[in-house]
Amino acid sequence: MVAYIIDGKAIAAAIRAETARQVEVLVRDYNLIPGLAVVRVGEDPASEVYVRNKVRSTQEVGMHSWEHHLPADVSQETLLRKLDKLNEDHAVHGILVQLPLPSHISEEAVIKHIRVEKDVDGFHIENAGKLMTGQEGLFPCTPVGCVMLAKHCFQHRSQGDLSGLHAVVVGRSNIVGKPLSLLLLRENCTVTIAHSRTAHLPELCRTADILVAAVGRPQMIKGDWVKPGAVVIDVGINRIPGEGGKTRLVGDVDFESAKEVAAAITPVPGGVGPMTIACLLANTVKAACLQRSVDYGTL
Ligand code: GUN
Repeated sequence: MVAYIIDGKAIAAAIRAETARQVEVLVRDYNLIPGLAVVRVGEDPASEVYVRNKVRSTQEVGMHSWEHHLPADVSQETLLRKLDKLNEDHAVHGILVQLPLPSHISEEAVIKHIRVEKDVDGFHIENAGKLMTGQEGLFPCTPVGCVMLAKHCFQHRSQGDLSGLHAVVVGRSNIVGKPLSLLLLRENCTVTIAHSRTAHLPELCRTADILVAAVGRPQMIKGDWVKPGAVVIDVGINRIPGEGGKTRLVGDVDFESAKEVAAAITPVPGGVGPMTIACLLANTVKAACLQRSVDYGTL
């Protein structure tokens, strides 16, 4: 059996189209144009590409978009004052500070400084607490996207019901592994969080109905770690040497061997990646609704 290749690009495009429709309703019925401000510090080339894509996608769905670029040697104090201004600006409904930040700036202090209602990354400790305790809030974009992809693969189970499935999440980062585990728990999965020190990792992965790889190690998870018929979601984006002196992108899963065993698998690129921006835009609409007391559910 060769796995169904999950088309993250197409699913993300559908989410962006739905977001664009919601923006139209907000503009027409509430005179509200959601706005997203992205702050980038320094010259990290990957961050530059990510931010450019975020700005373009924000504009494409009809929202306001601002990019604030600060020099690599900017002080933490200056960055926090910038965030004060954005926190107070009523046209700005979402604030995202692109990570990583230069080492002299505390990411924790910066994230804590963003108003919780504008924290479209879902990284603020209060949003993390809401996720933990089952309250509504803004939740991290990549994990939300992963759950959507998993539900897409289980459409046949009353529209993506994940109840009772065993999800193994390999990776325990604050950005992906931990929030994703909590989101899957909300979907009534039985969740195991695994990491680099987990004993008998291949055997454990082989018990997963949903296997998520978010460890940042190229092609670590092999086909014989995958249970036949499992859904494999690959969050990794790693650049490795390719043919002819070029480089190529691979995930944390060894795609070629895993696709022979899994029922469904995300490719890299074109799987989880496009979902992150789509969920960021959806979070910005949600944030705008929260701030203007519009019921997001009725849009
Ligand atoms: N850097 C890599 N991924 C992310 C993300 O999801 N949000 C932010 N703010 N920075 C990132």
